[in-house]
Amino acid sequence: MSAEKFSTIILAAGKGTRMNSSLPKVLHRVGGKTMLQHVIDAANGAGAKNNVVVVGFGREKVEQAVGDSVRIVVQEEQLGTGHAVRQAEPMIDKNDTVMVLCGDTPLLTAKILRNFYEMHQKEEAQASVLTAVMPDPTGYGRIIRTFGGEFKKIVEHKDASIAEKAVTEVNTGIYCFNAGELFAALCKVGHDNAQGEYYLPDVLEIIHAEGKKVTAVAAESYKATLGINSREQLSQAEKILHQRKNRQLMADGVTIMDPDTTYVDSDVKIGRDTIIYPSTWIEGDSVVGAECEIGPCSRFCDTSIGSGSVISFTYAHQCEIGADVTMGPYVHLRPNTKIADRAHIGNFVEVKNSNIGEGTKLPHLSYIGDSDIGTGVNMGCGCITVNYDGKKKYRTTIEDNAFVGCNSNLVAPVKVGKGSYIGAGSTITKDVPEGELAVGRARQTNIAKWRDKRE
Ligand code: UD1
Ligand code: CA
Repeated sequence: MSAEKFSTIILAAGKGTRMNSSLPKVLHRVGGKTMLQHVIDAANGAGAKNNVVVVGFGREKVEQAVGDSVRIVVQEEQLGTGHAVRQAEPMIDKNDTVMVLCGDTPLLTAKILRNFYEMHQKEEAQASVLTAVMPDPTGYGRIIRTFGGEFKKIVEHKDASIAEKAVTEVNTGIYCFNAGELFAALCKVGHDNAQGEYYLPDVLEIIHAEGKKVTAVAAESYKATLGINSREQLSQAEKILHQRKNRQLMADGVTIMDPDTTYVDSDVKIGRDTIIYPSTWIEGDSVVGAECEIGPCSRFCDTSIGSGSVISFTYAHQCEIGADVTMGPYVHLRPNTKIADRAHIGNFVEVKNSNIGEGTKLPHLSYIGDSDIGTGVNMGCGCITVNYDGKKKYRTTIEDNAFVGCNSNLVAPVKVGKGSYIGAGSTITKDVPEGELAVGRARQTNIAKWRDKRE
C-alpha cells in the first residue's frame, strides 16, 4: 500500500442550517466522536495518506477539533461543492487518486471506502461515483444512466424533471478521481442551475463527455452512506452506530445482557468473556480487559479497567482501574485517580486525584481526595481526607499496610507512616511515624450516678 498515492478531500465548510446549532454541523458528536472524525478515521482505515479538510463556517472550531491530523483549506464563501473541492487543488498532487467525501456521513466504514477505491482502480476509471438505492430519494442528486445502463450524468433534485425525480439510485456524495482530470474538469463547471452553485457532480458529466471512463458503483446498502442534516437524523445515526458496535463486541466474545440499554462508543475496546450488565455506558477512549463484570447502571468515560475486575453501580471518568479490582455499588471515581490491582472500593465511596495501592481497601462511606495510599492499607468506614482549607488543596500520604480506624479525619498535608494505626474517630493533624498508634480524639469520661443526681 505504500506506493499508493491516495488522498482525500473532505467537505466540511457548510453551516448545517437544519441542525439549528451554533456548532458547525460536522462537529456534532455521535458514537463518542465528531461526525468529521468518523469520516477521517474511515479514510485513514481505507489507506488514505493525505486528508485535506475544506472548512468555512465555524472554521476555528473545526480546525481546533481536528488538530494536526489533517491538512486544512479555507473556502471563504460557500459557492457549492465544486467550488469547495477547487480550494484543495494546491494540496493535491496531479498524479494522486483523490477520494471526495463529506464531513456529515459518520456511518461510513473503512471497508466501504476501501472497496470503492479498489473498484475505481480496477476499472481504470478517471472518475467514479458511489451510488445507493434509497427508499426515499428526495433531496439527493439522481444518477441518470443510458439505456445500456452506463453512467450519463447526475441531476440535482432541484433541477430534476418529473421522470428524473422518479429515479431511486442517488449520488452518495462519495467519489474517486484521477486528480489531474478532476481539477481540469472543475475549471469548466458553471453555476447555471436551480441553486446558482458550482456543483461537483457536474465534473462527472464533463469527464464522461470527453470520452473518458466514468463508473457509477452501487453501495451494498444505503445506510452506511447516510448524510446527517438534522438532530433527528443524528439520533438515528447514534442508534445505528451503537447497534453496530454491540454486534461487533458480541462477535468478539463479549456478553451484553441488554444491547438496548448498553451504550459503547465506537473506539472503546473490550476483552473477551467480559459481561456487561444493563444500563451501562462505556465512552470515549475507555478500555476494558477480559473476564470483567461491568454494571449494571454504570458509566465510564475515558477510563481503563484491567482484566477480571467486577464493578457495579459506578461512575468513573478519566481514571485507571487495575485488574481484579472489586468496586461498588455506588462509587464515584473522579479524574486522575489510579486504582491498583486487587483493590476494593465499596459502597458510597468517592475518590478524586488519588493513587490507591495494590490490595488496599476502602470498603464504606469514604471521601479520598488528593491522596497517595500505599499497598495493603485498610481504611475503616467513614474515613475522610480533609484536603481543602477553604483556599488551597493539600495531599495526604498513607504508607503501606497502615490501618486507619473508622470515622477518622486526616487533615492534609499529613503523612501516615508504614504499618501505623489510627484509633477510630481520630482527627489527625500531625504526621504518624511508622508502626505507631495515633489517637486524636477527646478521652472518654464517665460520670457516675448521673441519672440519680438529675432526679
Ligand atoms: C450533495 C450532492 C448530491 C448528493 C448529496 C449526497 C452536490 C451539488 N450535490 O447534495 O448530488 O446526492 O450531496 O449527500 O454536490 N459544502 C462545502 N462548501 C459548499 C457547499 C457544500 O463545503 O460551498 C459541503 C457541506 O458542508 C457538506 C457537503 O459539502 O458537507 C455537501 O453539501 P450539501 O449542501 O449538503 O449538498 P447536498 O445538497 O446534500
Ligand atoms: Ca447534504
